[in-house]
Amino acid sequence: MEKPILVLNGPNLNLLGQREPDIYGHDTLADIEKAVTTVASARGHTIDFRQSNLEGELVDWVQWGRENACGLIVNAGAYSHTSIALLDALNAITVPIVEVHLSNIFRREDFRNHSYVSLAAGGVICGLGAKGYELAVLALADQLATVE
Ligand code: DQA
Repeated sequence: MEKPILVLNGPNLNLLGQREPDIYGHDTLADIEKAVTTVASARGHTIDFRQSNLEGELVDWVQWGRENACGLIVNAGAYSHTSIALLDALNAITVPIVEVHLSNIFRREDFRNHSYVSLAAGGVICGLGAKGYELAVLALADQLATVE
């Protein structure tokens, strides 16, 4: 069976829709999962969509993705700005990686301007809200079509 695109969501993203909607929008994580699944399926891909508040669990899932995913979309939430462990895990994987943030992290507090995940990602989409996840799927699907 074809390997899925793994979509990893970090801490507090389970609260999307309720959490600071002026910054993160009104879509819930379930809404985003539905939207990316539809976009992926139109391009012949499946999605494995996960969220955790735990750094180690995200690291475990990235490691799982080394063998079991065809590409990775990561919104690591606040761990983007702090987690060298996540960066190391991402650097150990060879499938294409796209980093997503709902908000424009460069227009916010200084501590959000740096992302460890960016050091491992082929591309970064931020500031486009939930749409960014769909664009990430399209970008990955294009990349995967050229390597397949
Ligand atoms: C976020 C931006 C991060 O700075 C923040 O900690 C989040 C969400 C985003 O999607 O905009 O939790 O990753």
